[in-house]
Amino acid sequence: MDLGKLGHTCVVGLHWGDEGKGKIVDLLTEHFDIVVRYNGGGNAGHTVHVNGQKFALHLLPVGVLSPGKTATIGPGVALDLHRMLEEVSALAERGIIVGPNLKISDRSHLVMPYHKKQDLLSEAALGNSKIGTTARGIGPCYADKMLRATAIRVGDLLHPDKFREQLRRIVDLKNKTFAALYNDREPLNASEIADQYLACADRVRGNICDTTRFFFEAIQAGKRLLFEGANGALLDIDHGTFPFVTSSTTSALGVPAGAGVPASTLTSCIGVTKAYTTRVGAGPFPSELDNEIGQYIRERGHEYGTTTGRPRRCGWFDAAAAQYSTRLSGITHLAIMHLDTLSGLDRVGICTGYRAPDGPLPGFVSDGATMEQVQPVLEYLPGWKGDLRNVRSFDDLPREARHYVDRIESLVGVRIAILSVGPDRTQTLIRSI
Ligand code: IMP
Repeated sequence: MDLGKLGHTCVVGLHWGDEGKGKIVDLLTEHFDIVVRYNGGGNAGHTVHVNGQKFALHLLPVGVLSPGKTATIGPGVALDLHRMLEEVSALAERGIIVGPNLKISDRSHLVMPYHKKQDLLSEAALGNSKIGTTARGIGPCYADKMLRATAIRVGDLLHPDKFREQLRRIVDLKNKTFAALYNDREPLNASEIADQYLACADRVRGNICDTTRFFFEAIQAGKRLLFEGANGALLDIDHGTFPFVTSSTTSALGVPAGAGVPASTLTSCIGVTKAYTTRVGAGPFPSELDNEIGQYIRERGHEYGTTTGRPRRCGWFDAAAAQYSTRLSGITHLAIMHLDTLSGLDRVGICTGYRAPDGPLPGFVSDGATMEQVQPVLEYLPGWKGDLRNVRSFDDLPREARHYVDRIESLVGVRIAILSVGPDRTQTLIRSI
């Protein structure tokens, strides 16, 4: 793949998040002008290693790390402004200044303190049926967006008096609801929240704009846009393992609406996946390895959540799921991450399909209850030994590792353009295809 020749491109995860999208976006950024977050919010965690330094971003697009690029938060993002500003301050302490290079859509919805509270209260009330959310207020924020009357958008911060009035009404309603539904006895204070948010607004006033117009003009001017997907396609609100999903459109289908660009904008879509599969939170995971191999992968791959620190569930590469999300998003290139993590296993498995109690399934289905019941159809390939972290070309990989990635490629049906063998930018193999 010639990175310099990519048109407007989207980077999405093919499984349940944490695929390593941050590294790929960072790698691609130098070839683009604008990096755009279009979905999710503080539930995401994009880790990037630059010159031996590690950065974990949740709300700021990875593009803020690259000088001369514009980073944009689109209307589809659930924006926790306070946390975003904490990220801005943390970067400033490390010498990275986020200023006019950040644009925030006036249409992004604000995650408010009552959203986070509701997330916690609702999960606690659900008991064994809980979703296992990141507790970042994502679901409640998007729910209010759909309800409209209880939503607050970034642009509302520009009208302080109206914002205060709106907030008073909503907080009163939330306090009554939490008391009635969850027996909550700690009402939130609308005027304290308003003070806090309006203080935050003072810091970002110059960044808030109509990003739809900004993108239109940028595209007209020949600038190139890179869309940074958050979470993973199998967490997509419509097409993931419902109800064990997040509340936004995490696949590439989210780009047009979540960024505010025409559907015909994208020319390439890079599907990112690890050489194995992970999941955080509850929900079906047919190829899960709840055993010492899963533990081996977890420790070698440092599979602990960037956002919550929770241990990730680990399993064999689910090719059937990757094929599903590849078709859904129209993936044009694959990026396979963490190949080095699998070294040292006698054999490596790939899930090629599913067997339900009443027979084989034609492929991945989004119905969580069906997927909970299936058994994976597994194929085993010989494993490989040795440290792959210093390998820099496909041809130098051990024969078994090459065989493994070739098999993934043929099962998913899309060429592998990028292989990652470590966290650093340099630990990346790029194939011209
Ligand atoms: P929520 O997005 O916090 O509502 O969480 C819903 C589900 O999506 C939970 O299972 C989370 O663990 C999962 N989830 C949300 N964002 C991510 C992510 O960026 N990586 C991995 N899992 C995520």
